Order: sequence, then structure tokens, then C-alpha cells
Amino acid sequence: MALSQPEIIFYGPLINPKSVSSFQALPKCLLAVGASGNIDWIEEHVHESALQDVLAHRGSLNVSFIRLKHGEFILPGFVDTHTHAPQAPNTGSGQQYELLDWLKEKTFPMEARFVDVDFARRAYDLIVKRIIDSGTTTCCYYGTLHLEATKILADVISKWGQRAFVGKCNMNRNSQDDYVEATVSGSINATHALISHIRALPPPRLVEPVLTPRFAISCSGPLLSALGDMARADPSLRIQTHISENRNEIHTTLKFFPEATSYADVYDRHGLLGPRTILAHAVHLEEDEIALVKERNAGVSHCPTSNFNLRSGICPVGKFIDRGIKVGLGTDVSGATSTYADKQLPLSALLHLATVGGAQVCGFDALLVSVRSDTGNPGLWSADLDQELQVGVAGGKVLEAWLERFFFTGDDRNIRRVYVQGRWIGGAEGEL
Ligand code: GUN
Ligand code: FE
Repeated sequence: MALSQPEIIFYGPLINPKSVSSFQALPKCLLAVGASGNIDWIEEHVHESALQDVLAHRGSLNVSFIRLKHGEFILPGFVDTHTHAPQAPNTGSGQQYELLDWLKEKTFPMEARFVDVDFARRAYDLIVKRIIDSGTTTCCYYGTLHLEATKILADVISKWGQRAFVGKCNMNRNSQDDYVEATVSGSINATHALISHIRALPPPRLVEPVLTPRFAISCSGPLLSALGDMARADPSLRIQTHISENRNEIHTTLKFFPEATSYADVYDRHGLLGPRTILAHAVHLEEDEIALVKERNAGVSHCPTSNFNLRSGICPVGKFIDRGIKVGLGTDVSGATSTYADKQLPLSALLHLATVGGAQVCGFDALLVSVRSDTGNPGLWSADLDQELQVGVAGGKVLEAWLERFFFTGDDRNIRRVYVQGRWIGGAEGEL
């Protein structure tokens, strides 16, 4: 695949998230991306008449220049803090079940198929590209328990140029016979092998390994302890797992770990709860657990679509934000039916959670979004219809209105280009 070279200048509207409660909407922005793929400079208010002067002053007259059309804008890329790549073929199916039955009846049987590396290669190639075209520039992936298939997942992500964290599930109990790890040492050795594989991928190094104890029910105490030891030995390793998603799950967890005072305590006492931990769901945490998560500075991946579809409950995400807990959005495919970011909170909070809330990194990871009618999305009221009917936008907040329309009625047709580290890697606008 030909990756386009960075060193581009964009001229047009830019949406810049600032915090949970605010974002900047800059209608006439000049944004330069350097050869490294990082943002070199931004000029926030540049009128047409001053454009040539600013470019000349910056010494940027010969750089590739993209002038956005009416109805287009630049938005930071989406960060999906929790998804299961091998569950994508199950999307939309099995939602008559709640969590534990759903895992048994639908999820584990599908994941078991990834023992077949040819299937894994074909499936992951399609799945990762779909996720990129949905505007996800950074993604935290669970693979399966298989080392070889998860190496393939990392290879495919690296090939497509997405920024990602990739983990092989650790799971040595409570699963079907052909989809469970036999020994703690086997699980740990395979995890080391995956980490080495990912760290040896060719540049640009945008894929990182992440320890992935599936959830407490899937892991024996010794397995959790061994993973805790790995995390302690390597401070650059992140950890992802599930927590307090479903009442029956919590009850079962506490039965398997009778010495623990809570679900969060299970992870804490095995050295798995810290600033590098991403906890998916966290729907039913008790007050003492919320305090512990905050104290350990762990982050929560809020997965609203999945929580709704599997009837897990409503995550008190507003409370977490108020308490200063780090929160990002997760799709949790295939608990969720969509790879798009979700949408319930005020616009500024949605933007924050979908983008910088989950982000650590700061290359140019962005989307060129269009709310024009030529995107072919009939459900979205387009900027050209505003012009045709001379509809004004209340308060002149045109860019905010476009963003809102995109969030609530947009889809992958409106994501024209997807950039990661300055490289154009996907989107609806034709072949690369
Ligand atoms: N808990 C353990 N495994 C899973 C999974 O694959 N999906 C969800 N939603 N919860 C889990
Ligand atoms: Fe999940």
C-alpha cells in the first residue's frame, strides 16, 4: 500500500477539543503537518486575503496544500479504548443473551476459530480496515488467546498504519475445552512472544503490546499474579481488562476470589491496577472501588452501546469524570453493534471522550469530515442544503452545528480521509 507522505498544509475549519466542557471551533485555520507526521504549527485565524503572506512568511509555499470545501472540517481522530477484533463477525448477533451466556454461546465459539491462521489473516484484514474507515485512529484491541493469530492482528494493523495497542487474551479457566489455555507458563510465554513480535515491527512504530487478562473469571490467581509481575518488571507495558460489567459476573468473580474485598480488589491484589490499566465497562463499581480506581489512577473505558445491548446497566460516567477518573469511549464490538463513537453527553464531552479522553499521543491523527450532500448520506442535513434554502444556523455557530450533525447523523460516508501520524490511511475518499 502506498502511504502518502506527510508535509501537508490544511486550510479550513478545525475542531479542537480542550476539555470535557469546552472545545474550540476555528473556521479559518492553517494547520501544517511536518515530515515526522506531527503538527508543526497552527495559525488560528487566517483570512483569505492574508493566506499567501502567511504561507510565504512560514516558508511553506511549495508544500502540498489542501483547501477544505464548504461543509468540510478537520477533527481529531477517534480513540476506541476497548474493542475485540475477533468478535467483529458476530456484530449484531446474540444480543438475546446477557454477558456470561453470550460469552459461552456466541463469543468463545467465534474466537476459537482464530486458531486457523488463514482465517485470521483474511478476517483481520477486513476488520481493521473497517475500523479505520470508521474514523478510529487509535484502537485498543483484544485479540484471541492464540499467539499466531494475534501476531497477525498486529501485523495487519501495522500494515494499514493505525495506532494501536494489541493484546493476546490470557484465559486459563472457565471456557470451552478448545478455547482455554492449559498452563500459566504457556500463557505467559505466549504473552512474552507477542510482546517481542510487536516490538520488532517495522517503523513507524505505532503498535504497542498490552497485557490482556480477559477478566478475573477467565484467569486463575497464579495467572493474574504472573501478569502482575510482568507489569511490574516492564513499566512501559499497559494492561487492559474488564470489570464490573454485569451483576452475575460480579457475583461469580467474588466466588472465585473469596479473599478479595471487591472486584477491583481482585486486580489490585494481583498488581494489575495502576496508571497504565484500562478497565472496560465499570458499570456497577461500589464507592470503595471507585475510590480505589481513582487512587491507583487507572482509566475507565466507557462502552455504552455494549452496556445497552447486553443489558449490563448504565455506567455512571458523569460521576467518574467528576471524581477526576480518566475516561475514554470504547465500542466493545461485538457487545456493541457499531464501530462508531457513541453519543449521549453534551457535544463537548462527546468530543472529549471520543478523542483526547482516550488519547496519549500527539502526532497528527485526524479526520477530514464532510457534511456535504455529495457524501451520499441522505440522513444527514448537509451544508449545501443550508445554502440552497438560505437556512441560518442559530448564533452563527455553523461549525458547531456541522459537528453535531456529524455526531448524530453522520457515518463512515462522511469520514472522507483518515490520517494517522500525518499519513492518509483510510476513509471514504477513494483508493489511496
Ligand atoms: N468479559 C470478558 N470477556 C468479555 C468480552 O469479550 N466482551 C465483554 N463485553 N465482556 C467480557
Ligand atoms: Fe469487552
